[in-house]
Amino acid sequence: MQKKEEKNLLMEKIISLCKRRGFVFQGSEIYGGLGGTWDWGHFGLALKNNIKQSWWKKFVDSRRDMYGIDAAILMRQEVWQAAGHVANFADPMVECEKCKKRFRADTLRSDLKEVPEVGPLKCPECKGKLGEAKQFNMMFQTKVGASDDSSAVSYLRPETAQGMFVNFKNTVDAFHPKLPFGMAQIGKAFRNEITPRDFLFRQREFEQMEIEYFVRPADWEKYFEYWKDEMEEWMEEIGLDMAKVHDIEIPKEDLAHYSKRTVDFEFEYPFGQKELFGLAYRTDFDLKNHKLEYIDEGVRVSKDSTRHDSAESEKIVPHVIEPTFGVDRAVLALLLSIYAEDPTKDGASDKENRVYLKFKPSIAPVICAVSPLLKNKPELVEYANTKVYALLKAEFGRVAWDDNGNIGKRYRRQDEIGTPWCIVIDFDTLTDDTVTVRDRDTGKQERVKVDNLISYIKEKMME
Ligand code: GAP
Repeated sequence: MQKKEEKNLLMEKIISLCKRRGFVFQGSEIYGGLGGTWDWGHFGLALKNNIKQSWWKKFVDSRRDMYGIDAAILMRQEVWQAAGHVANFADPMVECEKCKKRFRADTLRSDLKEVPEVGPLKCPECKGKLGEAKQFNMMFQTKVGASDDSSAVSYLRPETAQGMFVNFKNTVDAFHPKLPFGMAQIGKAFRNEITPRDFLFRQREFEQMEIEYFVRPADWEKYFEYWKDEMEEWMEEIGLDMAKVHDIEIPKEDLAHYSKRTVDFEFEYPFGQKELFGLAYRTDFDLKNHKLEYIDEGVRVSKDSTRHDSAESEKIVPHVIEPTFGVDRAVLALLLSIYAEDPTKDGASDKENRVYLKFKPSIAPVICAVSPLLKNKPELVEYANTKVYALLKAEFGRVAWDDNGNIGKRYRRQDEIGTPWCIVIDFDTLTDDTVTVRDRDTGKQERVKVDNLISYIKEKMME
């Protein structure tokens, strides 16, 4: 077990690297920050996009039974009433009678630095007396349009799932899928968390990648196991440290209001083993509440049960298996999985450990960086730009130009961004058309013909 200070230090190092290298910034930073919000810089955005693309490719593009959707974030209040969120989407909250700060009652004991063995809990900030626990609804409420009455109330969605359920009928009518089939959506979700914390872990605005997989009621157990395997396969694919991922059966009394069975994939974060992704059996809870059903034999779905009830067709309310993934938690767990430090100096002038992010090339924000050895030698810059950078950029897209500082500093910078290969154009290049390719993980360098560069990198990417 790593010591607590070491673990906190690791989080600090990652947060600081994310800011320094343009991955993630505090939301509204210049005005003092807005708790639970983070802004994504160029490289963080590239990383997030690669994770989302890899997810979409595996779960949507490479399948025949999955239908994508991009539903509106604002939905009518009836959606959230029917979904049970107006009544149930709440966390127990306690307020300090002295400083008036609010805390989540369910995690307070584990959040306190020193856990009292006996006696009532005190405010973690001022040690004041805590009031009774109250239910606090986590949905952000807003009003749609100029009217101010209760009919104008709407909510920012706290899960992308409902955007799929309310489009179930549209999807069936448009594509006539046979059971089992799924809907998939990537998008923002909003929760007014009482205590946002731990960097990207608990935010008020975050992103989800969700699947609602519709099955015949009798088949739910089979597909639950199937999706558990699929989820694990994808986690491994993006490079998560699977030794730190644990699947945990959620006890009945802790299940969400819509779930009959949930398995959480928990990750060993430095601040504790906590939820990364989840897999829930939502039964027919949502479709029933929205009064939706499925009519087999490709007829159609009806909101009105008197229509299309022929002798041959079978009416079913399908059951739902829901694999759900938080994009931001995927990023955090991935950074924690691949952050590496070693004492290799690797030509850099300072004496600090070399820090590098061991992203798989398919997920790395930058695949390779192109550097003319000296930026004040026009012949090197010209060659690097026209014969190397342009070539690689057209092929791979995620290619960086880096001519800032000496070569050691450039390597250090690209290591921190997690760039697998740095390509340097030097004076030999001008005579023999070869460049130096330096490997991020080993620091080893090879001379490669410019003509062979694309196939060299493609081969390396397959390894
Ligand atoms: N539709 C089901 C659902 O929303 P959830 O477990 O509440 O289930 C799904 O959320 C995923 O969204 C979680 O597994 C987690 O990855 C992510 N998530 C939830 N709350 C979050 C928060 N406050 N900040 C960042 N990610 C969060």
